Amino acid sequence: MKDLKRYGEWALITGASAGIGKAFAEAIAAQGLNCVLVARRLDRLQTLAADLQSRHGVVCRCVNEDLADPASAQRVADAVEDLEVGLLVNNAGLGYAWRFEDSDPTRMADMITLNCLTPALLTRLLVPGMVNRGNGGIILVGSVLGVIPSPYQSVYGATKAFDVALAEGLFGEYETSGIDVLALCPSTTRTEFFVADGMSEARAKRIMAWADRPEDVAGLALRYLGRKSRVGPWAYVGPALLARLLPRKWSIRLVRRFMKPYLQKDEAQA
Ligand SMILES: NC(=O)c1ccc[n+]([C@@H]2O[C@H](COP(=O)([O-])OP(=O)(O)OC[C@H]3O[C@@H](n4cnc5c(N)ncnc54)[C@H](OP(=O)(O)O)[C@@H]3O)[C@@H](O)[C@H]2O)c1
Repeated sequence: MKDLKRYGEWALITGASAGIGKAFAEAIAAQGLNCVLVARRLDRLQTLAADLQSRHGVVCRCVNEDLADPASAQRVADAVEDLEVGLLVNNAGLGYAWRFEDSDPTRMADMITLNCLTPALLTRLLVPGMVNRGNGGIILVGSVLGVIPSPYQSVYGATKAFDVALAEGLFGEYETSGIDVLALCPSTTRTEFFVADGMSEARAKRIMAWADRPEDVAGLALRYLGRKSRVGPWAYVGPALLARLLPRKWSIRLVRRFMKPYLQKDEAQA
């Protein structure tokens, strides 16, 4: 991993209270960067902040925000106005698998705001400082479902395709400006995501048995930031390659066939 100090003194990580975001915060603080930790569960952020401060001697600032609120990006930017944020990790996200016609419209709107609007706005608000300094790093957490078709998770997949497209567009815009941009495309990762998603604990537990570790996924992104425009673990590489090689309709049908039995099992249990 290249020295993250090249991005300056401060990093901001959204969704730092759990999973991949927490792993990002730990890896970044271990390299001596101060961290702004953003999420809704303030108690968890404060516990993490105290731990990072005592283990790595860094300073942490906790920002308690609901990022599904369209006005939240501006409030987060205001909360760090006095800091030079050099490394931005747009990680907070929500997903769920359900038949499109059965999905809750409010939850859908929240997911689109949280996964798409807020990261785009927050990046827009923090990037001018990076441009002025001629230096910065931006990670957008997408998903393997942002690059392969996603029947029964159609809106989630679409939000993650947005994140990947945004990251790669910005990679192109800033490549010669000293700002590194990366789309991270995790596959199944051992976090609270699936339970937050409404999946039964029993099924989440089965999936977790073969999932990637969040620290490996976050570490991968930090290793490839500045070297690639998009990265994912091995469990992303196969499906992404297959989706590129197969005729599009075939890969859509393949994912549908894979997902349907799980969906039916969850519906039967609901
Ligand atoms: N786990 C996977 O298999 C997987 C696979 C592909 C992509 N991803 C992506 O990885 C990212 C991180 O997910 P994870 O797996 O680490 O899930 P996680 O363990 O459920 O963590 C999600 C994080 O996002 C925060 N968050 C959720 N809703 C929020 C809101 N409205 N406002 C502020 N913060 C919010 C949560 O904090 P609070 O609840 O405290 O607010 C938590 O810190 C997401 O973007 C997800 O789409 C995950």
